[in-house]
Amino acid sequence: MAHIRNSDTVLTGPMQSVDEWDDFVATRYQENKSEDEFRNYASDANPGVTEFYRQNHAHQTFDFVGEKQAEYLPLQRGQQSIWEAAEYLNTLIDDSDPDTDVSQIEHLMQTSEAIRRDGHPRWFVLTGFIHDLGKVLCLYGEPQWAVVGDTFPVGCAFSDQIVFPEFFAANPDSKRPEYRTLHGVYEPYCGLDNVRMSWGHDEYIYRVTRKYLPEPAQYMLRYHSFYAAHKHGAYRHLMNANDERMFEWVRKFNAYDLYSKGHERPDVKALKPYYDDLIAEFFPDRIDW
Ligand SMILES: [Fe+2]
Ligand SMILES: [Fe+2]
Repeated sequence: MAHIRNSDTVLTGPMQSVDEWDDFVATRYQENKSEDEFRNYASDANPGVTEFYRQNHAHQTFDFVGEKQAEYLPLQRGQQSIWEAAEYLNTLIDDSDPDTDVSQIEHLMQTSEAIRRDGHPRWFVLTGFIHDLGKVLCLYGEPQWAVVGDTFPVGCAFSDQIVFPEFFAANPDSKRPEYRTLHGVYEPYCGLDNVRMSWGHDEYIYRVTRKYLPEPAQYMLRYHSFYAAHKHGAYRHLMNANDERMFEWVRKFNAYDLYSKGHERPDVKALKPYYDDLIAEFFPDRIDW
C-alpha cells in the first residue's frame, strides 16, 4: 500500500485556518459563561467563522455524508503511523504566526498532557493525543466545512440547539419531507451508531483507530464535536442507554479539549519518547488511513 505523502493541496474555506473554529468553540463555552451569554455566540464569531457555518449547514446533507463515507471509510488511502500522521497534520499551520498560534501537535499534547496530569488511564491520555488527527482531511483537499465544525445527525430534523440553526434553511434536506421529521429515517432511541452524522474529522479518526481503543475512547473521538448533544442535551430521542452512559466520557473529554489551550506550550521533543511508548502500547507501527 502506498505511503501517504504530503500534497500541495490548496486549503479551501473562509477561515484563515481550521483553528479559528476551535478558538470560536472555546470562546463559546468559556468557563462560567451563562446559557444566556452562550446564546450570544454570534457576537463571538468573526465573519470567516460565520461564513464557515453558513457553508457547513448548507452543504452537509444525508447524501453528501453517504458519498464521503463511501470515499474514505474503506480506509484505502495508505498506511501511516500515528506519529507520522501528527507530523503530517502539523504541516497545516505553516502559514500561521508561530508566536501566537500553537501547532497542531502542541494542541494535541496540551490536551493529552492535561489528561495525564489529572491521573487518567493511559488510553485516555492517548485519546487526547490523537483526537484531532482526522483533520488531515484538510490535507486531502476537503473544504473546511467538511472537516471541522459542530457535528449533527443528518436524515432527520436539525435541532435548534446547533449553533446558527437559521443557516439550515439553505440545506436541501430541510425541504425533503422524509428528513424533516423529528426522527427522520431513524427509529426512536435507535442508538447513535445507526445515525449518520455530518461528515468531518471526528468520524474519520474514529474509524481509523476504533479497533485499537476501548469503547469510551471511541465515543470521545467520534462525538467530540457533537456539542448539541454533549453540551445541550439534544437528540436524546436517537440515543440508547449505552450512548447515554458513554456520553459521560465524551463530556469528561470535552473539558480537556476546550480548556487546555491556554496552558504552557509542551516541549514536543522532550515528550516524544513518552508518546512513542504510549502509541506502541495500543497501535501497530502503521495503520490504515
Ligand atoms: Fe476536534
Ligand atoms: Fe481539539
